[in-house]
Amino acid sequence: MNKRTFIKSITLLGLSAPVFGRLDSILAAAESSTAQTLAEDEDFWSKIRASYRLKPDYINLESGFYCIQPEETLEHFIKHVREVNYHGSYYMRNYRLENKARVTAKLAEMADCTPEELIITRNTTESLDTVIGGIDWSFGDEAIYAGQDYMAMQYMFELVEERYGVVRKVIDIPMHPKSDQDIVDAYARAITPRTRLLMVPHIINFTGHILPIRKVCDMAHARGVDVLVDGAHAFGHFQFSIKDLDCDFYGTSLHKWLTAPLGSGFLFAKKNQALKVWPAFAEKPTEDDDILKLNHTGTHPAHTDVAIGNAIDFQNKIGIERKETRLRFIQNYWTDQARKMDHVEVFTPIERHRSCGIATAGIKGMEPQEMAKILMDNHKIFTVPISRNDVQGCRISPNLFTSTQDMDVLVNALKSMA
Ligand SMILES: Cc1ncc(COP(=O)(O)O)c(C=O)c1O
Repeated sequence: MNKRTFIKSITLLGLSAPVFGRLDSILAAAESSTAQTLAEDEDFWSKIRASYRLKPDYINLESGFYCIQPEETLEHFIKHVREVNYHGSYYMRNYRLENKARVTAKLAEMADCTPEELIITRNTTESLDTVIGGIDWSFGDEAIYAGQDYMAMQYMFELVEERYGVVRKVIDIPMHPKSDQDIVDAYARAITPRTRLLMVPHIINFTGHILPIRKVCDMAHARGVDVLVDGAHAFGHFQFSIKDLDCDFYGTSLHKWLTAPLGSGFLFAKKNQALKVWPAFAEKPTEDDDILKLNHTGTHPAHTDVAIGNAIDFQNKIGIERKETRLRFIQNYWTDQARKMDHVEVFTPIERHRSCGIATAGIKGMEPQEMAKILMDNHKIFTVPISRNDVQGCRISPNLFTSTQDMDVLVNALKSMA
């Protein structure tokens, strides 16, 4: 097999057209509809739903942890596993890096950055912790993050506190801000001349609250502080450009909203910013500003890298504008009703642009664990309980296979519990 044929086979995998061709004709028929019109078209989304193999035992409203792949991506992934296994070390020695570079370029195009600014990682944790642990910290340097950040990253800051004497400044993000400035000010107040790094979530994982990242970056940069963005739940969920955010570092997981295989993510470092980060694993001598120096994690599942490309293809077919609009519609569909119910509290900001697919609601006086159990046992709805001082409820994270009928079941369940 020559090189061209091999790459073609490992990329296209000879999947039979009739299986997945249907999606193309469904999308072609919808081409003239606006994203807004389509968002409310249950008939259209029921056809997209057929792209997934859904477990009939429960309604899955916990796509935020890991979102199942559509069958098309999954089949590609399985074929990649077979192909890589078939060729063995021959693949690893001859095509692994080439294919990874090709998918990196595709991801960079989607993220709107250059391929030299992005590396494929296993997940958000690896991406963000590479930066937090790799900064050349001096004793007394300060780092800012929020009490609403993901715990694994908070632990990483505690680690660099112990190891290097970094001072942690933990702020409280206004959960129902009156304006973007409210949020920017909360971060600005914590900055001092010793601040080296500010970490901010693009979207708070337990409420679905989307933060004004560009405004936080502009404020921080004006004061000489670098910004690391936790984009675990943002990439592939709603539209944005990393270039427009103007952050210094961005980490995400692709197995969440891009619906790529488990164990896929990326780290973005703005041009020259990789210079500030020490690798956790040594790489052969590389330029200090080359982001690839942060990517030497040893032999890993190379087939996953290739399948990220297929997940991007699926996403591009649906279109990010259509996806974002549908997910926001689905969320508003149930939260608009839940907000009117007595004894129900919705913890997600009410302004439409401050959230997308994710939202969280609780029943006053009911423990989140109990709420999740009743949802599962009595209503066959799978969610995740959230129990914090500021939020007591269940997070609802739907995806493209979620119907308004599913949400009617949720709304009725909330009513009966309330
Ligand atoms: C906000 C946030 N950051 C980071 C992570 C870690 O993601 P992963 O486990 O894919 O690294 C999560 C996981 O849900 C998250 O919600």
